[in-house]
Amino acid sequence: RFVKLGQKADLRSRQMLNRSTFATKTQTVKKTLQAAGKESFFALQEERREQAERSVLISCPPNINQKRFLDYISKHGHIQNHFFYQSYGIYAVVEFSTKENIKALKANCTIPSVQHEAAVPFKSRLLSLKWTGQGSQSNASNTLKFQKHLPIPINELTQHLCRQESIDQQLQCLTDLYQLTDENISLRFLVCSLLRDIAAAYFPECIIRPFGSTVNSFGKLGCDLDMFLDLDGISGLNQRKGSGLSLEYQVKQGTSERTVTQSILSVIGECLDQFGPGCVGVQKILNARCPLVRFAHQPSGFQCDLTANNRVAMKSSELLFVYGILDARVRHLVFAIRCWARVHGITSSIPGAWITNFSLTVLVLFFLQRRTQPLLPTLDQLRDLAAPSDQCIIEGNDCTIVSDLSKIKLQKNTDTLEMLLQEFFEFYGNFAYSSTSINIRKGKEQNKPESTPLHIQNPFETGLNVSKNVNATQLERFVALCRESAWLLEQKEVRKRSPVQSADVIPPWGLAALLLPSVAQSAGVKGRRKKKHHPASERIKSLLESIKSNSGGVGVKQSAV
Ligand code: GTP
Ligand code: MG
Repeated sequence: RFVKLGQKADLRSRQMLNRSTFATKTQTVKKTLQAAGKESFFALQEERREQAERSVLISCPPNINQKRFLDYISKHGHIQNHFFYQSYGIYAVVEFSTKENIKALKANCTIPSVQHEAAVPFKSRLLSLKWTGQGSQSNASNTLKFQKHLPIPINELTQHLCRQESIDQQLQCLTDLYQLTDENISLRFLVCSLLRDIAAAYFPECIIRPFGSTVNSFGKLGCDLDMFLDLDGISGLNQRKGSGLSLEYQVKQGTSERTVTQSILSVIGECLDQFGPGCVGVQKILNARCPLVRFAHQPSGFQCDLTANNRVAMKSSELLFVYGILDARVRHLVFAIRCWARVHGITSSIPGAWITNFSLTVLVLFFLQRRTQPLLPTLDQLRDLAAPSDQCIIEGNDCTIVSDLSKIKLQKNTDTLEMLLQEFFEFYGNFAYSSTSINIRKGKEQNKPESTPLHIQNPFETGLNVSKNVNATQLERFVALCRESAWLLEQKEVRKRSPVQSADVIPPWGLAALLLPSVAQSAGVKGRRKKKHHPASERIKSLLESIKSNSGGVGVKQSAV
């Protein structure tokens, strides 16, 4: 449903682009919500979770025949949905109509007897389909269609981008190719549900919920699976008053929330390691600011981070989702900037002093709030529109945002994606980082409360800086690349696709030119050198040098590149 929602927004954005206008924003929000059946972020997630609970994950033999597979599995109940994918072999996700069907299926499953080793007899919904001898060789007359769970390589991506007609189309194309598919999201919820069954051995009423890019509408194929163990439904509720007597559970006490979280995660981590089918490389990282258990879930191929007691992160995911759904241009710009940053090593999969995808996303949101006609509302505005039932205070932080998105009245902003991309680079190529903090709550630059190179106020825990880890070198690299990209996009040879005959030899242009490992030496720019008085690489070099000598370092507000 998340993907469908995004696609609906994309479709509208395309229709609007065709008319060269992004007007009537209020209408857009209303229609997007209607398309989603007027469901809130949490309603959408609950629907996914419920689907996952009716699903199983089956490892299949290599020569499996689809019809035979479906005939066999459907003996146990009606199959609502299914798909196949490859990851260390062939897997099928099968969604039944009811949970009862799974009981029937499991009644027919056996614990394998393994030679020379012993099996942990844990009966999960991760199964293996085996040939029993009879008719084992399938003639495989029908070829299976596999769902893709990884993004296409960057060189293929740039080829796709080059074939588009405009930069606006390039950004839409990038989102289409990179965003999580409906099936990938289903698999993510299924993995959460499978892990929940393990945690339920200790906490029968717990829920494992995905957060971060799985649900915030900015997820890219291949991104990690962030989850949190939600025990809120168990603790703190059910306080009865009135009769004069009440019963409560006797519980163990920990010295703080943190130590309780650490001990719960430690035990669940141990359990995943010892008994969790498919969970490998389990590491308990319990001393981190946010304690977590990290592991790989081999059957899905997901890198997993399991946290507990992390409701603020869930709220941040909702906030990003809301911003992503308000206007299709938000997701297109975020996907483009994230991809650009990854290609140039501004972000990395390894934790370190670099900018994270979360910080980058907040940078894009802030930029969109700072347009002359703001494209996005501030977080304070989203809070002010909230109904009393939306009120949400987590550990003393006001995390309230409006859930009825139709209340949000957007301003009329008709900027094209090309314009936004260009101006994003100019905005952050010239931002006063040394004195100013980025603040999406107020939608305005604020005085910096601390001296870290980059200060992005945490939207909900306002005393925290989400980019505290970023050092001066990494910030300088980001700024230099913004300036170079802004300059490149000003060049008419980069901005427009060259009128070539053969679709195979389109030189990189627009977004594709910005994604080349070294933009200055790109084939596209090389090809145009003859027309210039001096090579583009020289021009960029001297341009950057002049910026450097004028700026006195990052932090001084400069005129546009
Ligand atoms: P990917 O890089 O695609 O995984 O993006 P992501 O948004 O999932 O980021 P990541 O896996 O690093 O973090 C998961 C979620 O944790 C984010 O979406 C945020 O909600 C939250 N988060 C990450 N970093 C920070 C941070 O520095 N501060 C706060 N408050 N939350 C963070
Ligand atoms: Mg993530």
